[in-house]
Amino acid sequence: MLCVLMGLPAVLASATPADAAAVQIATYDFEDGTAQGWGPRGDGVEVGATSDAAHSGSSSLLTSGRTATWHGASISPPFQKGVTYQVTAYARMVSGEPSSTIALTMQRTPDGGDTTYERVAAATVTDGGWAELSGTYSFGADSTGLQLYAESSEATATYYIDDIVITSDTDPARSGLSTDFETGTAQGWSPRASASLTATTDAAHGGARSLAVTGRSDSWDGPAISMLGKMAKGSKYTLSAWVRLGPDTASGALGLSIERRTGDTPSYERVAAPKTVPEGQWVQLTGTYTLAYDVDFLSVYVESDTGTFPFYLDDFTLTYVEPKPIQTDIPSLRDEVPFTLGAAIGRAQTLGEHGDLLLKHFSGVTPGNELKWDATEPREGEFTFAEGDYLVDYAVQHGLTFRGHTLAWHSQTPDWVFKDGDRDLTSSPEDRALLLKRLENHVKTLVGRYKGKIAVWDVVNEVVDENQPDGLRRSKWFQITGLDFIRTAFRVAHETDPAAKLFVNDYNTEFPRKREALYALVKKLKAEGVPIDGVGHQLHLNIEQPPAAEVEATIEKFATLHVDQQITELDVSVYPDFVSTYDEVPAEVLAEQGYRYKELFDVFRRHRAQISSVTVWGLADDATWLSTFPITRLNAPLLFDDELQAKPAYWGVVDPAKLPPLVRRLEAPAATPKVDGKRDLEWDLLPATPIARVGDVSAGLQARSSAGWLYVLAEVRDPDDDRSDTVTFTVGGKTYTVRREDGHPHGPDTAVQKTTGGYRVEARFPTGPAAVPGTDVAVAVADASGGTRTSWTGKVTSTPAVKLTTAPNRRPVVDGAVDPAWAPAPEIRTATWIQGTSGATARARALWSGDTLYLLAQVADPTLSEQSANPWEQDSVEFFVDPGNGKTRGYGDDDGQYRISFSGKTSVGGPLDPASIGDNLTAAAKAVPGGYVIEAAVKLPTITLRDGALLGFDVQVNDATGAARTSAATWSDATGQGYRDTSHWGVLQLRH
Ligand code: XIL
Repeated sequence: MLCVLMGLPAVLASATPADAAAVQIATYDFEDGTAQGWGPRGDGVEVGATSDAAHSGSSSLLTSGRTATWHGASISPPFQKGVTYQVTAYARMVSGEPSSTIALTMQRTPDGGDTTYERVAAATVTDGGWAELSGTYSFGADSTGLQLYAESSEATATYYIDDIVITSDTDPARSGLSTDFETGTAQGWSPRASASLTATTDAAHGGARSLAVTGRSDSWDGPAISMLGKMAKGSKYTLSAWVRLGPDTASGALGLSIERRTGDTPSYERVAAPKTVPEGQWVQLTGTYTLAYDVDFLSVYVESDTGTFPFYLDDFTLTYVEPKPIQTDIPSLRDEVPFTLGAAIGRAQTLGEHGDLLLKHFSGVTPGNELKWDATEPREGEFTFAEGDYLVDYAVQHGLTFRGHTLAWHSQTPDWVFKDGDRDLTSSPEDRALLLKRLENHVKTLVGRYKGKIAVWDVVNEVVDENQPDGLRRSKWFQITGLDFIRTAFRVAHETDPAAKLFVNDYNTEFPRKREALYALVKKLKAEGVPIDGVGHQLHLNIEQPPAAEVEATIEKFATLHVDQQITELDVSVYPDFVSTYDEVPAEVLAEQGYRYKELFDVFRRHRAQISSVTVWGLADDATWLSTFPITRLNAPLLFDDELQAKPAYWGVVDPAKLPPLVRRLEAPAATPKVDGKRDLEWDLLPATPIARVGDVSAGLQARSSAGWLYVLAEVRDPDDDRSDTVTFTVGGKTYTVRREDGHPHGPDTAVQKTTGGYRVEARFPTGPAAVPGTDVAVAVADASGGTRTSWTGKVTSTPAVKLTTAPNRRPVVDGAVDPAWAPAPEIRTATWIQGTSGATARARALWSGDTLYLLAQVADPTLSEQSANPWEQDSVEFFVDPGNGKTRGYGDDDGQYRISFSGKTSVGGPLDPASIGDNLTAAAKAVPGGYVIEAAVKLPTITLRDGALLGFDVQVNDATGAARTSAATWSDATGQGYRDTSHWGVLQLRH
């Protein structure tokens, strides 16, 4: 059998963990009539397969034409340092030749040493029969020029060899590899292009030496080392390398990548995305890699994101990760849900333990990338289906349903699609026709190829942009063809496979504005007769947002359109924002994630009539797109951990009773609301904490505190009005039950008020003289007639009062001069120090008019600096605005941090795409004695400004001294986290 690994005609198998027996490294039997890589050693020597004699089978290798004892047949063997090999072979002299000693010998040159010749095996060989040669071999020093050869003590002897078998007790694909350059050599690393690699003592991470990499010709040029034979298909490895910037290099980002080739086609994969290496520091690049392909070239290399700067490499390690067997004694997820349960996969998820896990739990699959345009039609008319075919065949073979993802998308689509030669296509009739023709061809080819095998297609992906007046994303597709690309894609898909179910797929459909925009689009297209069968909700959520109730509202909304609905890309990031990182995800967060999955699957199960399938975007946490999006960080968004074991998230879907208990947290800002069943403004300052829906009951909970009292508000949704419905509060160990019929008021400390679809409970409980440092609170809402119950358990902590100010309806001139329009606006001050205890402060005011918020800051700061490259370290004012006052831990799309330096330079931050709010801000700055004045206008296009509206709001002053920020003070947020967490901003109320 020919095995492409190592380019040798060798049989390679890997031992199972229980199998202590030898691992086959290579076998040469010459049965295919070739020399299988063996060649002549010495001038005039000839080596070739022959059928004149054979130890087994019908062929062997004949060596002739020798004139020296060291002449013979040789090969470069797949030997690695530190591994012991058993070598056996059979030899026989050609008839008439005298007997001689035939030896298998190893030639190699240790790094920095002389070439050595070591005997591996030898025997006296005659022409009367086959003699066995056998021995073991290993070497310890990094070496080059490895050659294994068969020589004879008779200088001119002619002989046969056959059945050369190399085995090892160590599977090289499990033994790992490390290089530390302490030998003063490159230890197997070589440049990818013109770079020079030199072992050096100029820098070292461990020991005294590292590898200096200089003279790189491109960002991808640098040190590479072969992994061929060191990695087995289906196995997982951890790779780690330490890097440091070279001399005279102030900045740069380095990463670890893999190049693999099957045949002549190279593919490149990231192991560790390039990360910034601060000058003078060693930085570890690490990641895991699962080899999913047969390869005949495999190498790992270090590259930069851009540039050709020099760097040092040290302490590289490759470590085999022993797979844990999957749990076979837990329920199969797909048996626990009333819809198809899918996972996004690639080839790696079909192999080994991954494949076992997939087949045990899932009933459907979506290819993560393999059917996208860049993967299927990289050049016009040139279709590549190797990976798509593999996954579709796998699904068919294993009875998995298949979601085709995706036909038309703005991302992962090659440039040529939108070009005519070098020219960008325009919306001219000719260009439109050209683009639509390309689309038609693409759709026809993909849908046609998999007709009958792919039952559902995401025909268009992410075409909605709720921030456009018409709700449509300004993709190249849209700019060139308007809505016609959607119409064409659906028409052609339907014509090609009338049985396929055709979907519009999008993310953030659980957010009200996007929900409405997508709804309007689907409604319009359906009315036109566009063959849309369903709507796909991607559902890339995070640990906190959006609440399951918003997902439910979306499903209910689309149910009115009578379309099928699928959850297509579910995952739950463990981070509430786009910037935080954990070294290890806390157990509490994983438990919380379990409850989040439970609440989501409660929603899906309630709407089983609307939802035909739920797909998670990945099989297990070891491979998730969220480990590099939106930044590179550890993430764990799925149902199985990176060792493929069930997480709390899994139990949240299967059996929530098995979830670890969860202590939720709630802040009780200082306040004394009147307990009368009315919703004071105080309660409107913050959003409620959801008590998740069970059956038909759900609630929103809030708390406030004052000396000796805890105030709570429960807004209960329970449409079935039963007098004996109850809310039970347990506060610091004491239980209080409030009944729906109790009415208002009920004693001095509780009040119940009827609301649409439910009722409100307002109550206060004594907490003793102290405030409330982490009081244990449980709230259980019970629906008497339905018998359902939902609850919240956690710790409630008192915090400072929510800051509140107002903005009158006036329009100032934004020029840095404080005009009279500001006079009626109340003044607030930045007196909360988040860095330092003194420094620049501001008096601030707000106004609003039309769709714009106007902001004024009069800053006391006598010495001004813009020296730092970081705008937040320059003397500047920041306004924080959340149009929805969501008080979420992360920024929503329309939340913003708007910064203006003392010289009037603006910058923005906060949301996933800060550029999208950049145009909202205009500002003017003016120097005044002892400081400066900032006037700013912030447009808020996502809401309608009106009297009474409440916005999340804060002001911060940054005080710079030279290139450093030496103090910072805010109006509200004391945590210093306002740049990534909106929950401690204050509230700005608009007034007429
Ligand atoms: C992601 C893949 O998972 C990644 O491997 C790839 O690098 C980028 O695309 N919405 C979609 C999916 O519709 O196609 C995206 O998949 C994730 C967001």
